[in-house]
Amino acid sequence: MDYKSSEITIKNILALRHSRALQDVVEFLHMNFKHYSWVGIYIVKGDVLILGPWIGNEPTEHTHIPIGEGICGSAAQSGRTEIVDDVTKDDRYLSCFISTKSEIVVPIKRWKKVIGEIDIDSDTCNAFSQEDKVFLERIAEMLSHHIR
Ligand code: SME
Repeated sequence: MDYKSSEITIKNILALRHSRALQDVVEFLHMNFKHYSWVGIYIVKGDVLILGPWIGNEPTEHTHIPIGEGICGSAAQSGRTEIVDDVTKDDRYLSCFISTKSEIVVPIKRWKKVIGEIDIDSDTCNAFSQEDKVFLERIAEMLSHHIR
């Protein structure tokens, strides 16, 4: 499935406004993009990121990440998307899965304030392109209306 039609499908999933919407979105992303090995949404609560819906082979031990820590905490602090092409080369990286080679973290913002983020781990190096970044930033924008 391509990025444009995926965007439309996700818009449709969210328009239904059912309680599983965020879970459905992470599952859709995981199922349709082979390089998205683990997909999760973190929600900002105070100065901590709390793991919300996720899908992947294993649960992560990092269910609570202080803002400023790890790749997730860095993106939450700066409000900018982080792409890490090789997680072994980034000192900030908090390891979750032995299989992870690269990662993208996309802030979800409301009125320029970070309220959550999309975190995707890939089992291949250099998995995330500018196209992934643009696509996921559009999804994050849609998700911002569905997070309380
Ligand atoms: N690797 C992340 C932690 C979250 S797990 O990837 C699910 C980080 O460095 O913040």
